[in-house]
Amino acid sequence: MKITLKALIAAGLATVAAAAGVVYFGVINVGADDPHSAPVYALLSIARDRSIEVRSRDIQVPDLSQEALIREGAGNYNSMCVGCHLAPGLTGTELSNSLYPAPPNLSKLGVDGHPAAAFWIIKHGIKSTGMPAWGKSMADPYI
Ligand code: HEC
Repeated sequence: MKITLKALIAAGLATVAAAAGVVYFGVINVGADDPHSAPVYALLSIARDRSIEVRSRDIQVPDLSQEALIREGAGNYNSMCVGCHLAPGLTGTELSNSLYPAPPNLSKLGVDGHPAAAFWIIKHGIKSTGMPAWGKSMADPYI
């Protein structure tokens, strides 16, 4: 029993030391032109989707068919989002082509039938992706 515990502690310490070595020796390439490996990308995608799902669960979606809201939203989108998320007839910009992960073309995708999740993303942004937290400068009704 004692030996097992010691072995577990040693294995834990070795894992921590290996992880520290990976970080210290700069093994991870943080360059945006070097994509994540498939397993890392899959893990990050699942963590992102679950995080957004859990946090946007209780958001009450207003009536989004009001013409005034759509008009105002289109104006905001045009001035703040087009450079990354494009617009009808626009195939790419320097920003949209250079970011990793690439910003999705929202003029084609829309909000994918999940307006509450889209609202959460727009308000809070997504760490380390280039997607800003617009809630720092815009009140909820504008988002
Ligand atoms: C500087 C670039 C940039 C700007 C400006 C920007 N975004 Fe984003 N946005 C991103 C990136 C990159 C992602 C993808 C993040 C990811 O893959 O996790 C993203 C993701 C999103 C998503 C989630 C889309 C999906 O299907 O997963 C929404 C919705 C969104 N942005 C809305 C907006 C809106 C609305 C604006 C303007 C108010 C905006 N963004 C401005 C870079 C940007």
